[in-house]
Amino acid sequence: MPADLRTKLGHVDLPNPILTASGCAGAGRELSRFTDVAKLGAVVTKSIMLAPRAGRPTPRMAETPSGMLNSIGLQGPGIDAFLQRDLPWLLTRGARAVVSIAGSSAGEYAELARRLSDAPGVTAIEVNISCPNVEDRGTVFACDPAAAASVIEEVRANTRYDIPVFAKLSPDVTDIVAIARSCVAAGADGLSLINTLLGMAIDTATMRPVLAGLTGGLSGPAIRPIAVRCIWQVKQALPDVPIIGMGGVRTGRDAFELILAGAAMVSVGTVIFHDPGACDRILRELGDELARSGLERLTDAIGLAQQSADAVRLGARPRMGSRD
Ligand code: FUM
Repeated sequence: MPADLRTKLGHVDLPNPILTASGCAGAGRELSRFTDVAKLGAVVTKSIMLAPRAGRPTPRMAETPSGMLNSIGLQGPGIDAFLQRDLPWLLTRGARAVVSIAGSSAGEYAELARRLSDAPGVTAIEVNISCPNVEDRGTVFACDPAAAASVIEEVRANTRYDIPVFAKLSPDVTDIVAIARSCVAAGADGLSLINTLLGMAIDTATMRPVLAGLTGGLSGPAIRPIAVRCIWQVKQALPDVPIIGMGGVRTGRDAFELILAGAAMVSVGTVIFHDPGACDRILRELGDELARSGLERLTDAIGLAQQSADAVRLGARPRMGSRD
């Protein structure tokens, strides 16, 4: 019998845990040639800001070993165009829309939250406080517990009560658990882990930085172990807080790994650039992984590796999670 893949995005029921990762599928339109967006757990949109924005100069993407650097700089049409054009399109397609928002002050985030709360059909808000591609590192709010909390507090206060608010965190911190606690105390209903890591590449032929913006966010399989570690640490500290996991997921097995660490949902990102149908495949493969592991429900797998680790610590043999 196929495994039951239903999960919960805060209090919202999702038919399955596979989401697009913000920034890797626009607002879903391009992807719809390859994937039925209504069949995904949700579409997480590219982070939207108040005003239209051109982003950073090109080149702004570079391949790296097992990964990719992007230096997009939050390019986007602005909230007015998003509400007129992109959100209605997602709704007519029957997709669940998790809207990612970004701003340069707590007030900007608050205004975005208000605008989205007045619009029909927003499934959840993902608050991007961790984009590495900003000129002022001071606006990477997710690098400081108090700054992160100030944004989340404003967003929660200005978001309709029935729309879950997820804070998207950066792995580029010493203690991600401290940031996670601070966001939850400020009202976040859940956490998205992890955004890209700040990286850089130099072209040895030209002897110059590859990216016009010099630095970029590293994504792809190279960062998956960091995502697993962050999810694990946060799940251990805050076991009841739902986590959207992301970072280098290419296969159903990769998604399963993040779920075993503690993610209730998994966003699929970089792989979409070369395999636009990846979300469907990963969903199928994840079902197979659960069945092979003897798990009937996805919810039984969330954080299961933590229980196994506890059992080992206490001297018992792990009950599940081993294929031997
Ligand atoms: O540069 C960008 O638009 C990327 C955003 C992010 O990684 O959050």
